[in-house]
Amino acid sequence: MSHRVLTGITTTGTLHLGNYVGAIRPAIAASRAPGVESFFFMADFHALIKCDDPDRLARSSRAIAATWLAAGLDPERVTFYRQSDIPEIPELTWLLDCVTAKGQMNRAHAYKAAVDAAVAAGEEPDANVSMGLFSYPVLMAADILMFNAHHVPVGKDQIQHIEMARDVGQRFNHLFGQGQALFTLPEAQVDAEMELLPGLDGRKMSKSYDNVIPLFEGGSAALRDAVARIVTDSKLPGEPKDPEGQALVALYDAFSTPEQRAAFRAALRGGLGWGEAKQQLVAQIEAQIGPMRERYAELMANPEQLEATLQAGAAKARAIARPFLKQLRAAVGLRPYTDTATTAAAKAEKSALPVFKQYREADGKFYFKLLSAGGELLLQSSGFEQGREAGQWVARLKREGLTADAPVQREARDADIAAALAAFQES
Ligand code: TRP
Repeated sequence: MSHRVLTGITTTGTLHLGNYVGAIRPAIAASRAPGVESFFFMADFHALIKCDDPDRLARSSRAIAATWLAAGLDPERVTFYRQSDIPEIPELTWLLDCVTAKGQMNRAHAYKAAVDAAVAAGEEPDANVSMGLFSYPVLMAADILMFNAHHVPVGKDQIQHIEMARDVGQRFNHLFGQGQALFTLPEAQVDAEMELLPGLDGRKMSKSYDNVIPLFEGGSAALRDAVARIVTDSKLPGEPKDPEGQALVALYDAFSTPEQRAAFRAALRGGLGWGEAKQQLVAQIEAQIGPMRERYAELMANPEQLEATLQAGAAKARAIARPFLKQLRAAVGLRPYTDTATTAAAKAEKSALPVFKQYREADGKFYFKLLSAGGELLLQSSGFEQGREAGQWVARLKREGLTADAPVQREARDADIAAALAAFQES
């Protein structure tokens, strides 16, 4: 199997530069690497947890799909789908729910944050917690494990979720894998250079902090307005400035080459004014984002085309998910009644042992023979008048090995026969 990379974005609201720099851009770049199989999806089931406005949810999902395509995602090359088009994902979520420790979910950051907020407000700890919020990490584990992703590019804040997916996957493998790994255990991939893009106030860029720079929304005017609001120190033009720790510089870095970064820092140290620096930042971002914004507008004007692209993606994803889920259902014991086979391990164990076969021939006499695990004839008895006699010899051979001087023809090397008989003494 090639190297699989998977990422998803919750479809609430519109995307900001932090989403682009932290998730979309690196994921698209990684999808172009040779030998990489990429999965991209709209996490719209996850979005339901936070959103009770159906129209907003629908609009946001469409906008995010258009964003990824506009940002250069090639749906021919990757598997690009909506989570909610893959019914195998919620089904897998349930299988995983059944092996997930509640105690582990109690420690999930998002859940703990909701509890802390409720307690701080003098409410019951779980006042604002739906089961959806609580089991968010399990649904996310299903997203990842369903496609056996090796790597998941995420922001730092999602690392815990990937670790939970590993734990759950490992537990499932242990319980149901019969010594084989059903799931690939995923690893978080955090771009060390970018990690968390700061927002206007220097904290992580996040909708919840209301400090975002919109990606496409509002056009270049909105970009310029947002950049104008980036918090800096109050040094005047001409005064030397310390670029380190400035949100504006970190944002500049995210859209620049190493040479440009060095030059920008040198200019600030040499007294470049913040106003001028902000103009340079806008130009730097606009050079990358501007052409994408135009493609985005086109895609938003053609919902049929967008829908067809997503349907094709869902078909591709389900071609993987459907047979895999079938295998997983069988592994946990959800099987058609006609499938009376026991687990693969039990079967293998059974067939790995040598066997004695007792039978009666046309001459009316009773015989037995010893077959190796592979079905090769090791011992052949002579004929007995009584079935009981044959049975007694078999019992002695099992107990005593070849030292029981049975009336048998040795059909294989003594060492092989002895080894086969030894298996009965162990069991
Ligand atoms: N929880 C992720 C976020 O908020 C979105 C997401 C859902 C996701 N399922 C995923 C990301 C699977 C990566 C893999 O950003």
